[in-house]
Amino acid sequence: MKKTIFSGMRPTGKLHLGHLVGALQNWTRLQDEYHCVYSIVDWHAFMGEYENSVPIRGYISDMAVDWMACGIDPERSIVYVQSQVPEHVELHMIFSCMTPLGWLERNPTYKEQLREITSRDLQTYGFLGYPVLQAADILLYKAAAVPIGEDQLPHIELTREIARRFNFLYKKNVFADCDAILTETPRLLGIDGRKMSKSYNNAINLSDPAPVVKEKVRQMITDPQRVRKSDPGRPEQCNVYSYYKVFAPELLQDVTEWCTQARKGCTDCKAGLAECLLKRLAPIQEKRAELLRDQERIPAILQEGQRKAQAIARRTLNEVKEVIFPI
Ligand code: TRP
Repeated sequence: MKKTIFSGMRPTGKLHLGHLVGALQNWTRLQDEYHCVYSIVDWHAFMGEYENSVPIRGYISDMAVDWMACGIDPERSIVYVQSQVPEHVELHMIFSCMTPLGWLERNPTYKEQLREITSRDLQTYGFLGYPVLQAADILLYKAAAVPIGEDQLPHIELTREIARRFNFLYKKNVFADCDAILTETPRLLGIDGRKMSKSYNNAINLSDPAPVVKEKVRQMITDPQRVRKSDPGRPEQCNVYSYYKVFAPELLQDVTEWCTQARKGCTDCKAGLAECLLKRLAPIQEKRAELLRDQERIPAILQEGQRKAQAIARRTLNEVKEVIFPI
């Protein structure tokens, strides 16, 4: 029997290279081994973007297109929009009744977000419960494992605690423990060397046309000590090198020599990287264009995903209700 994995992504902007190497490549690979359930978690997006929710709808279909273009296969995986399966909200509500406030208030990811994100008011009742909804996502499908980034580990821990608390309170093993599957790829930085993020406007998007990719790579920050082409550079201090590591590991030896022996300047080195990125993006963008030619395709995939997801979610929720309100 194949195990189930669940993961979700918030539709808050265009997908970029960080999503590709940090999540989607991994998600695609996992389809061989597991029953995969991948959700476009629009309620989680809404929790942070409730003041500016209009663009979310567009990001949802964009996200679905990018997922398929990167290799998520709707024949093998369940792909759907969280808000189209209301069972998420129902289980979230039930869990919220039994989750102690202290667990949520001491969550390091929550505390960090309150500190870092100042452009929006996140001091809300709903946002405190963000990980409770995430627990409901995972447990509705009784997922055994959850592919995520390291920043999400506290949420997986909380999911386990909620599952155990539920089982303990109602003396029935409805939910099992879930494990995190961490991606090994190092975090890709943005073109300015900060964390890649749409809010920093430093990302290379999966849908960027070739001239945009080239221009963004041209702007990338390299070893600040390498001022002239004749100065030897330090690859480990260079963001361009870290991209080569991820996208063209076969060239690393060459790139190291160009740089440390000052054989090639940064401009040439970046042009080479841009070519590698374009080669990686070409099949994705072709698939993207193909998907966009058929207007019915993405809505049909999401509708089918909704149907399959809801059937599983409904079953779990019925089980939960029988346990909390036995006849
Ligand atoms: N919190 C996750 C993130 O920001 C998104 C998410 C929501 C998720 N529900 C999930 C991830 C369930 C894994 C499993 O990346």
